[in-house]
Amino acid sequence: MTVKILLLGNTGQVGWELNRTLLTLGELKALDYPQVNMANAENIRLLVRETQPNLIVNATAYTNVDKAESESELAMAINATSVSILAEEARRLGAALIHYSTDYVFDGRKGTSYNEDDAPSPLSVYGATKLAGEQAIKDIGGAYLTFRTSWVYSLRRPSFVTKVLEWARQHKTLRIVDDQISSPTWARTLAEATAQVIAQGRDDPVGYLQEKHGLYHLTDRGSCSRYEWARAIIELDPQKEEQAVKEILPAKSDEFPTSAQRPLNSAMNCGHFIKTFSPSLPAWKQTLALAMNESR
Ligand SMILES: NC(=O)c1ccc[n+]([C@@H]2O[C@H](COP(=O)([O-])OP(=O)(O)OC[C@H]3O[C@@H](n4cnc5c(N)ncnc54)[C@H](OP(=O)(O)O)[C@@H]3O)[C@@H](O)[C@H]2O)c1
Repeated sequence: MTVKILLLGNTGQVGWELNRTLLTLGELKALDYPQVNMANAENIRLLVRETQPNLIVNATAYTNVDKAESESELAMAINATSVSILAEEARRLGAALIHYSTDYVFDGRKGTSYNEDDAPSPLSVYGATKLAGEQAIKDIGGAYLTFRTSWVYSLRRPSFVTKVLEWARQHKTLRIVDDQISSPTWARTLAEATAQVIAQGRDDPVGYLQEKHGLYHLTDRGSCSRYEWARAIIELDPQKEEQAVKEILPAKSDEFPTSAQRPLNSAMNCGHFIKTFSPSLPAWKQTLALAMNESR
């Protein structure tokens, strides 16, 4: 059977990579705004009914963590209401749904890495809307996988990595917080892991996802502080000669007030994903080196 895959959001960091990794797995229809408007749940319902996919991969999201504090209705519509429609329509069609969520569902106070069964307690509107999306999918049930990930970056859209490269060219001294800890995750890791999981279902990916359905933590391996991440970015920059930066100093989150509060330690344990689907995940510094060398 040829699997009809509907990819929503093919220009985002993860969506762009998925557009490539899903290509050979079936008949791929990749759409983005304005054909897909996740702010309009009825538009989403119609789209799924017209397309009749076997598998929906949702790479759309309202991801502006600070702006979400003042746009909570829009963030909720995109991250939760329309996501619940996707889950409902997938269930109705007998299709599978793959969705992504965030470490920001946690408050970061656990002290060790988070497991899937740890209680979420988001500190921000963004985290609360993503949690509502996850819970709607779980409540509706069916053949779904939700991959909770963290600190996603790519070099083709603004991300922490591109910002650090820019700051390193503009300033002699950088001050970066060392009290926020998580796992930097290359968008490509997520897209490749997603494709690998679908491919494991061979000619019945929907049945396979039904069997394996649930919530999984999925990030690049290892964790670090934003300060350590920034040092690695500057170290691995293939065009160091353009840098103006001479020193990188550690700072604390409360020195840089933002509208949204972020968890301090939201590293996640990916053991459940590894045990179920994969022998291992790539180390965050290795993927960072690959991502940075590829971009130049
Ligand atoms: N980025 C992170 O650090 C991070 C961390 C943890 C989890 N995640 C999760 O990982 C997933 C992928 O994130 P990402 O980093 O790839 O995000 P991204 O680069 O911001 O991509 C999100 C995509 O959604 C689109 N979108 C926004 N509003 C839309 C709407 N109303 N209708 C249709 N499309 C809309 C965006 O389009 P525009 O570009 O036109 O806005 C963009 O293409 C998301 O579920 C996110 O919550 C991300």
